Amino acid sequence: MTMDIITAIKQRRSVRTFAPDPLSPSLREHLERFAEHTHSPFGGNVTILLRDIDAGSIFRPETYGMISGAKTYFLISTGSDDSSALSAGYRFEQVILEATRLGLGTCWVGGTFRKSAFESHDAWPAGESLRAVCPVGIPGRARFLERAMTSVMGSYRRKPFESLFYADGFRAPIPASSPLAFPLEMMRLAPSSTNSQPWRATKDGDTVHFYCATSNRYSLIDCGIGLCHFAEGTAHAGIDGSFGTLTEHPVPPRDWRYITSFTLR
Ligand SMILES: Cc1cc2nc3c(=O)[nH]c(=O)nc-3n(C[C@H](O)[C@H](O)[C@H](O)COP(=O)(O)O)c2cc1C
Repeated sequence: MTMDIITAIKQRRSVRTFAPDPLSPSLREHLERFAEHTHSPFGGNVTILLRDIDAGSIFRPETYGMISGAKTYFLISTGSDDSSALSAGYRFEQVILEATRLGLGTCWVGGTFRKSAFESHDAWPAGESLRAVCPVGIPGRARFLERAMTSVMGSYRRKPFESLFYADGFRAPIPASSPLAFPLEMMRLAPSSTNSQPWRATKDGDTVHFYCATSNRYSLIDCGIGLCHFAEGTAHAGIDGSFGTLTEHPVPPRDWRYITSFTLR
């Protein structure tokens, strides 16, 4: 039985150890079709492919962590602009949640993948390059090293709600009774590179303005992932609204970068 999307958001954890069993042809086909049909309100160019790749029984990304036993990977290529990065996070996180619903393990892995088994696997559309990969398969028993790493990184820990999300131009907390508290809580649970959780927001009237608190290679992908969780939360709660870039928005208390706004209809 598949789980619902909110349970998937709450239960998903990065999986870095995989069982030897390959993905069944029907699961592969389902995931490929699902990835193809994901969409994003932020535009840009993103390509998502599913491939069998021999990255060794233990794949050590140039960034951190290690993936063991994976045979099948998603490859995510994007244009070099901000919209593409946001959309990559927003679209591929939908695939991660679908895989989670189906009981499969996944782990976002960022990098340049130069001189790796992933490098020349596919010819990407003009202007795009490989920005992330993601093993997908049946979860295996996490090895001691993986458990130690996730514990040291505090991977399961999330920042407190009130340190991320505000109201009235960052001056007040969001009341727990606000209907937007639920989708923001879904955003809070999202995965991010090095668990950096860069998403910030303030709710003013019928609009939530989103900001990014980090500025690294993965910041906008991370924010796209958080916005995907927020959107899944609004859909689940029957909250109708749309994303748009506004010229006027509250000035944040620190050098957080404005990303987008969500206005209720
Ligand atoms: C864009 C992105 C890049 C990531 N890159 C890596 C990586 O290179 N190596 C790794 O082991 N985990 C990577 N992760 C997984 C994060 O470390 C993980 O999501 C975070 O610590 C939170 O843990 P959780 O996913 O178990 O909730 C990445 C996650 C994201 C969103």
